[in-house]
Amino acid sequence: ATRSTLAGFGSYLPRRVVSNDELAQRLDTSDQWIRERTGISQRHIVGDGENAVSMAARAAERALEFAQISPKDVDAVIVATSTPDQVFPATAVRVLNELGVKNGFGFDIAAACSGFIYALSTADAFIRAGQAKCVVVIGSEVYSRILDWSDRGTAVLFGDGAGAVVLRADQDAGDRGLIATHLHADGATGDLLYVDGAVGQPEHTGFLRMSGRDVFRHAVSKLSSSVDEALEAAGLTYSDVTWLVPHQANIRIIEGVARKLALPMERVVVTVDRHANTSAASIPLALDEAVRDGRIKSGDLVLMEALGGGLTWGSALVRL
Ligand code: ACO
Repeated sequence: ATRSTLAGFGSYLPRRVVSNDELAQRLDTSDQWIRERTGISQRHIVGDGENAVSMAARAAERALEFAQISPKDVDAVIVATSTPDQVFPATAVRVLNELGVKNGFGFDIAAACSGFIYALSTADAFIRAGQAKCVVVIGSEVYSRILDWSDRGTAVLFGDGAGAVVLRADQDAGDRGLIATHLHADGATGDLLYVDGAVGQPEHTGFLRMSGRDVFRHAVSKLSSSVDEALEAAGLTYSDVTWLVPHQANIRIIEGVARKLALPMERVVVTVDRHANTSAASIPLALDEAVRDGRIKSGDLVLMEALGGGLTWGSALVRL
């Protein structure tokens, strides 16, 4: 049977780095508070010429280069984003153009911080159905655009960036490739984390609002059951996992899930300290970093998980 293998990895971070101390000049907060509660010490924020499309395109170019795949062999681009530059055309369609893909299709997926897991699962379904042979899956986010910079409870948590992977159809993958993805959503918890309004609704602020404590409570339990489900479906156990690559929201959520898995932090990829929460971009950003610095190697079993606004959550299990 055809499987999707991860053939390439790429990412892009805005040039401008904003430290906790810089935020503390404008907000009633401190470097110590932010580090202790979240593990975040800095974040990247877009500047001139940097936006959801440009970051996605740069990350995708790097991933294609890594995979040694020409843009002409790309069948589809799927972008996970909650912060597109425009309502339409979709970010993915603009990215197809920037990459020079002439015979492809593309669309965006909005599942907040779970967007990359949703996009990966969607791309895998296209590949296994025989509808595409090569799909670029991207998370690209400009959360700086939807933050209320006067709200210390949310402004300190997020950053901008993009990450990408190239998924390729492989008939002889053996045990390599995407093993399973699991997706969940519960609209009854929609008011715990949301953006207030949309384009053309001037009576709303357009800012992200969050009940931090409630999200935290849901995160550890839902993410733990989601990784249990992934391993059980694959007939694997915690000890088989080489690397956990979690969505990077908060070091305490990450540690909570690792503890439930009995996985030492040495086997967890952490970028939240330097990137903060980049929503749908955080997992592919972390993957790219750990593959390129040699931590994640071919043959490793990698478990990814995410939870975000919706609430949406899910997991993906892959053998590289
Ligand atoms: N600096 C200083 N003080 C602050 C700050 C800040 N940046 N933000 C909040 N506080 C204050 C609050 O006002 C409150 O003060 P009070 O007691 O006088 O009212 C106090 O700190 C405690 O606030 P809590 O919200 O109860 O703090 P908590 O320990 O829960 O930490 C946090 C807040 C970090 C947001 C935590 O709830 C959390 O990590 N939640 C998870 C949410 C998350 O990560 N969301 C990301 C998006 S969802 C996702 O990607 C999974």
